[in-house]
Amino acid sequence: VIGIDNLALGRRENLSAALRHSQFSFGQFDINEIDKCLPYLRKELARAGTTTVWHLAANSDIQAGGRDPDIDLRLTFLSTYNVLKLMAQSGLRELVFASSSAIYGEHAGLLKEDSGPLLPISNYGAMKLASEGVITAAIGGGVLRRAWICRFPNVVGSRATHGVIFDFLKKLRANPKNLEVLGDGTQEKPYLHVCELVEAMVFIHKRSTEVLNCYNIAPRKGTTTVRHIAEHVVQSAAPGSIIRYAGGSRGWVGDVPRFRYSTAKLKALGWSSKLTSNAAVELAIRENLSARP
Ligand SMILES: NC(=O)c1ccc[n+]([C@@H]2O[C@H](COP(=O)([O-])OP(=O)(O)OC[C@H]3O[C@@H](n4cnc5c(N)ncnc54)[C@H](O)[C@@H]3O)[C@@H](O)[C@H]2O)c1
Repeated sequence: VIGIDNLALGRRENLSAALRHSQFSFGQFDINEIDKCLPYLRKELARAGTTTVWHLAANSDIQAGGRDPDIDLRLTFLSTYNVLKLMAQSGLRELVFASSSAIYGEHAGLLKEDSGPLLPISNYGAMKLASEGVITAAIGGGVLRRAWICRFPNVVGSRATHGVIFDFLKKLRANPKNLEVLGDGTQEKPYLHVCELVEAMVFIHKRSTEVLNCYNIAPRKGTTTVRHIAEHVVQSAAPGSIIRYAGGSRGWVGDVPRFRYSTAKLKALGWSSKLTSNAAVELAIRENLSARP
């Protein structure tokens, strides 16, 4: 495995186990600086014989992307565009891509892989949708032989660097008496544990046989409200803390406050999560609490 990350948002210590592995190499590069990435990639490919690119680099700070659209243009869209250029120049022709529920925008009812029209309401969602577009165009143009588009739900787990659980724990460390929550707490989405997400991605990559394979990934059951997360975080980290809801139906501009995924296609392929959405959230709260002072 050859890892590339500029560590602008990720942390080197989160790679500590991988860095000790003899079959892992890591280059700290900005994927948009192709001239710097390409020599490293070619050198490592000559050794490793890697065939598939797993493209997960993006802007994970959605609110920052809302304030400055250039961030999502560079980190979420151009990163994909330049990954495809790097692949073309280094002979790699299979791509697994981390997409998002944000590409759907606001729809009533279950989101299926062919739901539409696709009208994202955040810059992040727009740049993920544009990324899906250049990936399918790369198949059409013969640059890619095969691609797997995995549309993630909300993902939680240990060593978080962002997201609702991370934000709540950070706020409570600063002020254990009150927890300020964006929105009215009724925002409700499916949450999947990162270990199960990785398992699902590997499963989809192994089992789906089309040229273009597009899958929603979600827990087998349920969604979780922001109120449930806030109450569990408070109970675990600062019992007695008062939860204050800022009000309004969404957490921030561009937030899709509630959605539900159809997982019928993934189930038909043969994968279901073990954890429900609530169980994934509760596990992630325990993991993030035990990992930090
Ligand atoms: N966490 C979620 O709930 C969620 C939901 C839907 C989709 N996703 C997608 O999953 C992927 C992983 O997200 P995550 O939550 O682990 O976030 P993350 O911030 O931990 O991971 C993204 C990584 O990309 C790196 N990166 C960004 N721009 C780069 C560039 N130009 N060159 C090199 N590296 C760059 C960052 O440093 C970071 O380590 C992203 O594509 C994200 O959009 C995540």
